[in-house]
Parts: sequence; C-alpha cells; structure tokens
Amino acid sequence: MTSTNSDPHPVLRDPSIMKLHQEKLVNAKGVPLATLDELCPNSVMLAPMVGLTHYAVRKAISEFLPEGARALWPTEMLNSRRVPSQHVNQTPEINFCDADNGLCPQLLANDEEFIRLSVPRLEHWGARAIDINMGCAVARALKHNYGVALMGDPAYAAEVVRMTVKYATVPVSVKLRAGFRESADKSEVLSEEAHFENLFNFIAGLFEAGASWITIHPRTAEQKRRGDADFELLARLISKLRNEGFQQPIIANGDVQVLADIQNIFEVTGCSRVMVGRALIAKPWLIANDIEPDPFTQGELYGKFLKRVLDECEGHYPESLGLRKMRFLTTYGKPWVHYGEYLMGRMMAATTYSETRIALNKFFDQPQKIESRTMLRS
Ligand SMILES: Cc1cc2nc3c(=O)[nH]c(=O)nc-3n(C[C@H](O)[C@H](O)[C@H](O)COP(=O)(O)O)c2cc1C
Repeated sequence: MTSTNSDPHPVLRDPSIMKLHQEKLVNAKGVPLATLDELCPNSVMLAPMVGLTHYAVRKAISEFLPEGARALWPTEMLNSRRVPSQHVNQTPEINFCDADNGLCPQLLANDEEFIRLSVPRLEHWGARAIDINMGCAVARALKHNYGVALMGDPAYAAEVVRMTVKYATVPVSVKLRAGFRESADKSEVLSEEAHFENLFNFIAGLFEAGASWITIHPRTAEQKRRGDADFELLARLISKLRNEGFQQPIIANGDVQVLADIQNIFEVTGCSRVMVGRALIAKPWLIANDIEPDPFTQGELYGKFLKRVLDECEGHYPESLGLRKMRFLTTYGKPWVHYGEYLMGRMMAATTYSETRIALNKFFDQPQKIESRTMLRS
C-alpha cells in the first residue's frame, strides 16, 4: 500500500475553520447540543442510502476506521408516519444494534404530529442526531411532499426543522440538494444568480430555524443523478454563508470515487466534512481518508468487506432478506470491480448464506482488481 496523502484532514486542522465550530447551539430546554466535531471527529462520513446503509453495511465499513476513530452513521431513510408504531430492530431499516457507534437516523418528515411522536422514539433507540431528508427526488417522496419537494416551499421547510428541533434533545440536521433550477410551474429556468440566491436563502432559513448542520449534494432536483455535482456552486455558497455569519458546519456530498476527490472537495469548497455514498460501499477504506491501496489490494479488501457484511447479515437478518441485501450491495459495488458482472452472476445464483459464502470465497481466491473510476450512472 502506498500513501498518497500526507495531510488527510487539511481543512479540519485549519484553526480558522475550527473556530467556526466552537459556538454551541442549545436545544428547546436550553441544554447545549453536541457539535458535529464532537459527534464525528472523522473527516469522511457515509451517506444515507435506501437498501444500502443498514446495520450490516455500516458495521463492516466502520471496521475500516483506525482504532479509536469515530464517525456519525446514517440509517436508511425512515418514514415519520411509520416510526411511531415500530419497535427498534423490528426491520433492518431500524436496526440500531450499532447505536454505540453514533447513529444519525434520517427522517422523511413534514407533519408536526408524526415528528412529535417519531423524534423521542429515535432518541430512545439511541440516535445521537436526527437528519431530515430534503434531497430525495423519487416520485413517491415528491407525491407526499417529502424530500426535495420541501425545497419548493422554503418557509415550510424551515418550519419542519423548527418542529423537529422543538421535540429533539439531540442536534437536527438536513440533507438537501441544490434545489430547483426551474420555476415552480416549470415555465422558466432560473438564472444562475436567482438560483444561487434562492439556495442561499433556503439554507439560511434552515439555520435560523435551528439546524445544527447541513449536508449538500450539489445537484439540482431536475438533475436527479445525472450530470456532475457542482462544487464551484457549493464553494460560493459556503463563502457567502460564512460572510453572512452562518458558522454551522456544512458537509459536502457527491461523486467521490478516489481519495483525491475527497481532498479536492475539501480544498475547493472549504466544507466541514465530505460525505460519500456509492463509492464507500465498493471502497470502504475511503472512510479513513488515509491511503489508496493498489488496485489488487483493493480487490482483496473489497472481498473482505463483502464477507464481513455477509457475517453480519447472517447474524441479524433472515436468509432470504440477507441474500437480497447482499445482491443489492453487489449491484452498487460491481461497477468498480473488474469482473463485476461475473461476481454479480455468482451472487444471483447463490440461494443460501452458505452458497453465497462459497461464491465469495471462490471469486476472491483469485486476485481481483478494483477500477479507480466508473461512470457513476446509477
Ligand atoms: C441506492 C441509493 C439510495 C439512496 N437513498 C438516499 C436516502 O435514503 N436519503 C438520502 O438523503 N439520499 C439518498 N441517496 C443519495 C445519496 O445519499 C447521495 O446523496 C448520492 O448518492 C450522491 O453521493 P455519491 O455520489 O457519493 O453516491 C441514495 C443514493 C443511492 C444510490
């Protein structure tokens, strides 16, 4: 393994940035809230992903952190209408077995009554922070005014934060996109300046409503997963927020594939943390923001990772569910794997945990290579 990074946390060590994090917010009872620095000293975070960021995956990725390092871990998105009637560990989405590692469950929320009932439950289950989803652009979320739909109504989005903060004793954050580039009736495309101002005002509103930090995936709602994340836009936004006195941490997310991407995002944007989604489930070593192993060592590590996830699935999920989870994980990891389609075929053919283990052992007994980049289409 070769080290490509002599200073893996360039921004976090900058004293001027550290100073920005020192002021503490308080909760509705006047109790100071934990800061992001306290909850997540690690510079890289895992992004919430439906079907992927369940307990077994979080646990296996966390084992790539150096001993003693701590991060904050997302759940998959949880529906605030369901949480009040659920019991912890009842489903993989609400498996909180790793609560000691520091969990930040993500909520789809827009209704005070469901927020009032969900928040204490999540805290009771061990949440150290609660994130509100304002980025999901799938039709089902939009239909119910969840996710990125909230970005179309800035005043109500701020209200959702205010409601959540009111019932929470832990920090509340928001994960969002770069908003909408088209007007609400889709009749006009906003100018770059108008879009920027809207986004700035939207975020300022969230902070004024009590959000402790935000995560931005700088793609517009219209882009869905197409095009590139716009880190120049994010750099401008962060600079304006700082100039206007907003000191809360801002986490940048999108399109990381190699270690250098993480460093580049820190340098270009001045963000507080980098959050990684798809690449972390193929390259879990990126969580340590430390070394980029050679492609065959990466293949070995990827194999170990899949086997660890399989162990945890076997220990916690019924077989049919665990197999579905393993296949879904492989679907998202395979684009980086040199013989990814072959691996996928083996995973699809396996019908038991034991056959899956044999398939993984056979595949990874041969040297396997991980590509540094893929098209990131999915
Ligand atoms: C399968 C999948 C599921 C996702 N589910 C969620 C989700 O539940 N909540 C959320 O805020 N973002 C979700 N996302 C978006 C990711 O958190 C992240 O913003 C996006 O993938 C861009 O980051 P990346 O390029 O590092 O993957 C999902 C993405 C994928 C690929």
